[in-house]
Amino acid sequence: METKIEIQIAESVAFIRSKTSSQPTIGIVLGSGLGEFGDLLIDKTTIDTKTIPHYPQSSVPGHAGKLHFGKISSGEKKSAELLVFQGRVHFYETNDLAKVVYPIDMAAALGIKKLIVTNAAGGINRQFAPGDLMFIEDYLNITFRNPLNGRNKLASQRSGNEHAVIRPAFSREMLVKAKNVARENGIPYKEGVYCWTKGPTYESAAEIHMIDKLGADAVGMSTVPEVIVAAEYGIEALGISCITNLATGLSSEKLSHAEVTVVANRVKQNFTELVSKIVFALGEKTVNSKQ
Ligand code: HPA
Repeated sequence: METKIEIQIAESVAFIRSKTSSQPTIGIVLGSGLGEFGDLLIDKTTIDTKTIPHYPQSSVPGHAGKLHFGKISSGEKKSAELLVFQGRVHFYETNDLAKVVYPIDMAAALGIKKLIVTNAAGGINRQFAPGDLMFIEDYLNITFRNPLNGRNKLASQRSGNEHAVIRPAFSREMLVKAKNVARENGIPYKEGVYCWTKGPTYESAAEIHMIDKLGADAVGMSTVPEVIVAAEYGIEALGISCITNLATGLSSEKLSHAEVTVVANRVKQNFTELVSKIVFALGEKTVNSKQ
């Protein structure tokens, strides 16, 4: 029997299919202030998420609520078909993890095989500075919440998909590829462990001290639930954090969401170049092919 979420996803997907015939294989979730990557797409169909049945809406500034279907191009080359999520819903907005991961359920239903999840994060590692891009090696989940709790049947059980529930949730292969791409293109990067907190407030200095001791390099309020669900579907994931500030207690600057947006704006070019080059490294289509 179909669950409520499955029925809702089927209705969302039917709506999307009525708007575009695109068959994306790579999904990209754009974090706070990083939304402009969507402007690069060609052969593009943009859907306002407000129009998609059941699709959760974000209320955070910098989270536009748009889905872009299309490809990117570089000279003669065209990338694989992409689905770009511009804007996301955070757990603190609804207190409902099912809403946070709804886009991932939908991505899986649309046939996405690889996911690049990006976010804005506070830097904890003393080597990090605002503006750094960090590839996420692994995560710490100090919310102790898991979006798969309460799902009566896991996707892996339904489909008999032996590749599902990938561990680690972040793909080693995508990480190695992404680091190679960054190195080859002279784009500086950091690497580290991302810690998910519930927010909506930033952490206290004592909490950052604790999270530091637990082994995290950066802290933020997203990404982990999404990759847990992606792994459940057998979707490989790469995580990229844009370090927008030093975490509480590590600098004398006062923290604010406005600061996050300003720094994200500053790194936009590097970020866009990095994600574009990674997308091409994951697979491309030639101009002559059908898609
Ligand atoms: N803490 C939590 N989330 C964040 C931060 C932070 O310092 N910066 C950007 N997102």
